[in-house]
Amino acid sequence: MIPIGVFDSGYGGLTVLKEFVAQLPQYDYLYLGDNGRSPYGTRSFDTVYRYTLECVQWLLKQNCPLIILACNTASAKALRTIQQNDLPHIDPNVRVLGVIRPTTEVIGQHTKTNNIGILATSGTVQSGSYKIEIEKFYPNITIEQEACPMWVPLVENNEHLSNGADYFVQKHINHILEKNKEIDTLLLACTHYPLLKQKIQQFLPPHITLLSQAEIVTDSLKDYLHRHPEIETKLTKDYSRTFYTTDAAEDFDSHATTFFGQPVQSKHVDL
Ligand code: DGL
Repeated sequence: MIPIGVFDSGYGGLTVLKEFVAQLPQYDYLYLGDNGRSPYGTRSFDTVYRYTLECVQWLLKQNCPLIILACNTASAKALRTIQQNDLPHIDPNVRVLGVIRPTTEVIGQHTKTNNIGILATSGTVQSGSYKIEIEKFYPNITIEQEACPMWVPLVENNEHLSNGADYFVQKHINHILEKNKEIDTLLLACTHYPLLKQKIQQFLPPHITLLSQAEIVTDSLKDYLHRHPEIETKLTKDYSRTFYTTDAAEDFDSHATTFFGQPVQSKHVDL
């Protein structure tokens, strides 16, 4: 089997994998969630880089010629170094892609006022990656960022639909909209956040568009595979989905369905 590798610090990447599977079902997918060490969002550059590299190396050993970091924090803090410094030594023929670049390429198409709000983990916000990348494609867009450090723990602990989540959701939505009254588009720049979409929507004025990344990243993957037959032809197409977690498999399975929308049977791996 030569699968597409999909990685996240935990469950969040399953929201992206769900869309890959819906739109590109023929491929084999191998998912790795580093649940044993999540969340990544509050960790240093060095730690996120080290953890992400270990996960990438493991996925490469499992024969993945193409790996998608379905995690904004890892894309922000580790991807560039892995692409530029590590892959050329490990194997110049493999590819590791992130979720920030494809999102920033198209985000300008969604705003009429040219004012966008980014909701993300502290790590993604601190990295400045969204500001830097959006600026390249859309220099006229004003970007506000808001770190929402409690949102991943709420989702990971299955509290995202609870009344208790209202406080943390409302707080950050109000905060970012107060920073800039012209914002008409908010991006969920963390792959865990789509589970909070319904709740976020309750606290949003109706004129604001709430964007999540799964469809955007899937369109980008389709385009990538089309443009890179040297990778696409290597991939096996037996419609299989395999899941690994660095934490307990039973815990992963009981929680993963909420993110993936289908039952999941995972295996534990020690990296
Ligand atoms: N799902 C990851 C992201 O997209 C972050 C979760 C975490 O903090 O580990 O940023």
